[in-house]
Amino acid sequence: MAEILDAIFQRRAVKVFEPVEIPDGLREQILDAARHAPSSFNLQPYKFYWVRSDAKRVAVARLCMGQKPAATASALVVAVADIGALAATSRCQAEWMRGSNFAEEEIRDYERKAKIGRILFMPGPFGLFAAIKRVIFWMLNLRMVVGMPPLSRQELFKWATRSTALACQNMMIAAEALGMSTCPMEGFDGRRLREYLGLSGRQHEIVMVIAMGKKSSEYREPPQWRRPLGATVVDL
Ligand SMILES: Cc1cc2nc3c(=O)[nH]c(=O)nc-3n(C[C@H](O)[C@H](O)[C@H](O)COP(=O)(O)O)c2cc1C
Repeated sequence: MAEILDAIFQRRAVKVFEPVEIPDGLREQILDAARHAPSSFNLQPYKFYWVRSDAKRVAVARLCMGQKPAATASALVVAVADIGALAATSRCQAEWMRGSNFAEEEIRDYERKAKIGRILFMPGPFGLFAAIKRVIFWMLNLRMVVGMPPLSRQELFKWATRSTALACQNMMIAAEALGMSTCPMEGFDGRRLREYLGLSGRQHEIVMVIAMGKKSSEYREPPQWRRPLGATVVDL
């Protein structure tokens, strides 16, 4: 447990890396840690594009505005919020439940809930279903305590981004624990990067790019500053 805390406290956004190969085993552990993060309804609404070939790294680094961490990283991981695979993911989970000998009733219950979730999350053509659902939820909320699900495409992306960001943090902590350093980046040309990766604007939104590698021995990070706890925490 203390090692996890060490990784959390030692992690810094490293700006300069030295060239090293990230072995496949290490890459797998880092990605495995990422996908073990919690996600809303366990729908894991994200994809990671691991960019390691020299030519592609150069191209992606250019789309990260040539930032130093991107230009020197051994791998660039593009973390993408993906709202296009929700039905496939819940089908996959149901199959896994069957293969893991869950009771038929439990599986049916899961499938029923997943179906309701899909209906709730479907924005419909021109956001029409979202508008109707918004009115229904608004009226319900006048009479009872009810949470508003993500209805529009924009809200769905916001919803998916939360789970994606948690997976990114897991990835960075795992990388740190395994002797690698990282730098999360939101400084990139989203439109061009999306096109470069062949992503669909309706289903995918790039949340961040994580530069990963071995910290350059010449790089000295500045002292780490955080707001005092009192400015961050509200005791009730
Ligand atoms: C969402 C997000 C986006 C960031 N974007 C960039 C970026 O584009 N370029 C960069 O050099 N650092 C970027 N950072 C790193 C932050 O500047 C860094 O985390 C912050 O200054 C605190 O430093 P520390 O992580 O070393 O404690 C980003 C961090 C986050 C969480």
